[in-house]
Amino acid sequence: MMSEVTTATTLGWSPEEPTARGVANAVSRAIREGTLKPGMKLPPIRSVAAELRLSPTTISAGWSLLARSGAIQTDGRRGTTIAEIHPGSARYRKAMDRHSFFTQDLSTGVPDPSLLPDLSTALQTLTTAATPGGYLDEPVVPELLALLRQDWPYPAEQFTIVDGAMDAIEMVSRAMVRFGDRVVVEHPTFPLLLDQLEAAGADVVGVPLDDQGMLPGPLAEALSVSAAAVLVQPRAHNPTGVSLTTTRAQKLADIIRAAGSTVIEDDSAGSVAVTEAISLGSWIPQQTLHIRSFSKSHGPDLRLAAMSGPETVIDAIVSRRQLGQGWSSRFLQRILLGLLIEEEPVAQVAHAREEYQRRRQSVITALAERGVEVGGNDGINIWVPVADESAAIVRLASQGIGVTPGAPFTVLADSPGHIRVTVGAVAHSHTELAEMIAQASRAGGWVGGR
Ligand SMILES: Cc1ncc(COP(=O)(O)O)c(C=O)c1O
Repeated sequence: MMSEVTTATTLGWSPEEPTARGVANAVSRAIREGTLKPGMKLPPIRSVAAELRLSPTTISAGWSLLARSGAIQTDGRRGTTIAEIHPGSARYRKAMDRHSFFTQDLSTGVPDPSLLPDLSTALQTLTTAATPGGYLDEPVVPELLALLRQDWPYPAEQFTIVDGAMDAIEMVSRAMVRFGDRVVVEHPTFPLLLDQLEAAGADVVGVPLDDQGMLPGPLAEALSVSAAAVLVQPRAHNPTGVSLTTTRAQKLADIIRAAGSTVIEDDSAGSVAVTEAISLGSWIPQQTLHIRSFSKSHGPDLRLAAMSGPETVIDAIVSRRQLGQGWSSRFLQRILLGLLIEEEPVAQVAHAREEYQRRRQSVITALAERGVEVGGNDGINIWVPVADESAAIVRLASQGIGVTPGAPFTVLADSPGHIRVTVGAVAHSHTELAEMIAQASRAGGWVGGR
């Protein structure tokens, strides 16, 4: 039986600020403290407004913030209730959680294992390295740090090494995003990023992108109300494959500078991107956090990424991390260092970069010949416009091909249908694949599902 929260005041809600965010903060605090429990019904907006002496519009806006983060849910006649707590990766699970029965599973978004560098040379260098360090060693292997400083898109003040890009973004959002803060993201974007931001209680605001990156006009509009951060993928954007041009990057930097926000850059493709590394840090270093993952280029199970930013921000994140994990294994850092400097793995990563580009281009060219235009120029995925997502997915599945639905990537409502295809995983027969994708793109739509 659902119990009802009788009055606002008996719960001791007293918003510290008479705003929608203040109300949302108070409710989320009550949920955290257990005063409000999953399933409890919230009183009608008008009665809460009367008791808190706020306008119904403010309460309603507070409810919207809470609903966005999943803290409450509105369910027709049952009214508004405190939501059950779910582990926070709903979109990602929707996009990825399937048993793979496909002959060719192109839904994964992961690198081709045969294009990852061979570890043996890097592992040999470990045998001559010093014995494992202890708690008091530098958190970042100094030679790796020196190498990163040389090979970075802007002269960053401070660096750290973390356990992958998602770990970096998780730590950054914990440090910078408070409940109800607005965070601007590209539309579409990687579902796990959206899950993470929503789990942090962010009010996620989508800004569309074209072939040069995020659109400046809509970004300026989104930042006319203050936002804690703007999250961008500077190159090989997942899912579209778009990379920021220098002109666009500079425009975005001007807008973010004026708004006083911070840009978080997620360079997940790293060294397998053909586009040069780029960062808004070249213009606004004090407002930039730049993250480079080594998962796609050197192996997801290395689980390493480098992050740069202003000294104050990085140092605060590093010292907070000391309360828990402390640092990313220096063993793994040394393996990565070997992979970044030894001739053979460097050549293997260069080959992977070219091979991914060849695979992507072959499918895109064959699709264009079949009247299907796909944008972007980089990375392992393509973002294909389709008449009907479900019909396209079912049709390809019946041919043994797994692809990802577009919906979990979208932020703005009423987006046209898409599928994401990890063409980087396909070594041969690109024309045949393109033919099947082209047909699937028309399935279920006005062309009649042929
Ligand atoms: C945009 C984006 N960010 C982050 C990640 C994950 O990076 P990591 O393995 O370094 O956590 C991915 C993986 O597909 C990605 O596409």
